[in-house]
Amino acid sequence: MHLLASPRMTTAALKPVRFHSPWYDERELAAVRAALETHTAGDGPIGRKVERRLGEMLGAHRVLLTTSCTHALELALLALGIGPGQEVICPSFTFVSSANAALRVGARPVFADIEERTLGLDPEDVERRLSPRTAALVPVHYAGVAPDMEALLEIARRRGLRVVEDAAQGLSASYRGRPLGMLGDAGCFSFHETKNVSCGEGGALAITDPELALRAEVAREKGTNRAAFFRGEVDKYTWVAEGSSYVLSDVLAAILDAQLDKLAQIQARRAAIVASYRAGLTEWAHQHGVRLPAELPEREPNHHIFYLIYPDGAARDRAMATLRAQGVMATFHYVPLHSAPHGQSLGAQPQLPVTDRVAHSLLRLPLHPRLAEDDVLRVVDAVRQAGA
Ligand SMILES: Cc1ncc(COP(=O)(O)O)c(C=O)c1O
Repeated sequence: MHLLASPRMTTAALKPVRFHSPWYDERELAAVRAALETHTAGDGPIGRKVERRLGEMLGAHRVLLTTSCTHALELALLALGIGPGQEVICPSFTFVSSANAALRVGARPVFADIEERTLGLDPEDVERRLSPRTAALVPVHYAGVAPDMEALLEIARRRGLRVVEDAAQGLSASYRGRPLGMLGDAGCFSFHETKNVSCGEGGALAITDPELALRAEVAREKGTNRAAFFRGEVDKYTWVAEGSSYVLSDVLAAILDAQLDKLAQIQARRAAIVASYRAGLTEWAHQHGVRLPAELPEREPNHHIFYLIYPDGAARDRAMATLRAQGVMATFHYVPLHSAPHGQSLGAQPQLPVTDRVAHSLLRLPLHPRLAEDDVLRVVDAVRQAGA
């Protein structure tokens, strides 16, 4: 591969390399048309088909499609009965939804630091954040890579805590042969436009315990037993518990169905791009003190994010500005939640040194199935030329 041989290009001559782009084509269009002609509301035949497909992929007793991963997280905590007076430990290096879910059910999010290796919850720091009020852990599978789930599940078992996996980025990845989202009490997935499989906005909740699945089913349908009514288990449906409107329309489920048909192709393309990034950047990174995502034998990746961790924030910012000037839309990631205005308004300010350092020095490279090999080589070339 002649990575350095590609000429230095000018932005005038080239289209920007987009950071992400969902891959929709005639198949999604045909699926949407079919849904519009048959069924559009939620929990219909298309949604149930997609739930069965996901259930088989994951080995879940029940999958419930939701309007987003944000809502799947909220629904999981609601169905588990987490509420006021309780605390939920999650990372600060995550999307706001991991913490908002706790607030939405009246509980308090408590932030713990992340491990260097996986950028997920650090079990040792979780131990330090435990209190008599801790009720649940929300580990995040950042970039589709699980944190040390064995240690986290052991803490949960010892302390009688619930575990809700934020697997927003985790579809198709596994930990010791087990799909992400199937390691704790509930797994929450995102089908937002930026995810490997998408329908614009959407999510899913995967559950193994049949009783929990029934509680979640009711909460998803505004607190009614509508699903049981449609199964013929009750003669009318009514208000039986607290709930909200979390169910995904069959129109969006139809897009998901078409995306799942393409899953193998999507994953193969993403894997090839990551392999090119590694081939072009591993040695350079080593020479410049830049870290690439670790390849961890017990974790089957899904190639959701490819990131570089620069020696410090200034080096990251310089590289990002240079790449963008060349039309390569590389980007940073989370503003740590504990340092965000709403995080600060929640009270105690934890010391989370790994979170702070990673958030300042991490840069994500473009990664999506529509990225051509020439684009990938252009990104590699631009990263090397931008320096560290
Ligand atoms: C870790 C994490 N959790 C939750 C979410 C929320 O997902 P959604 O946009 O489907 O609500 C995201 C979205 O990017 C995420 O990255």
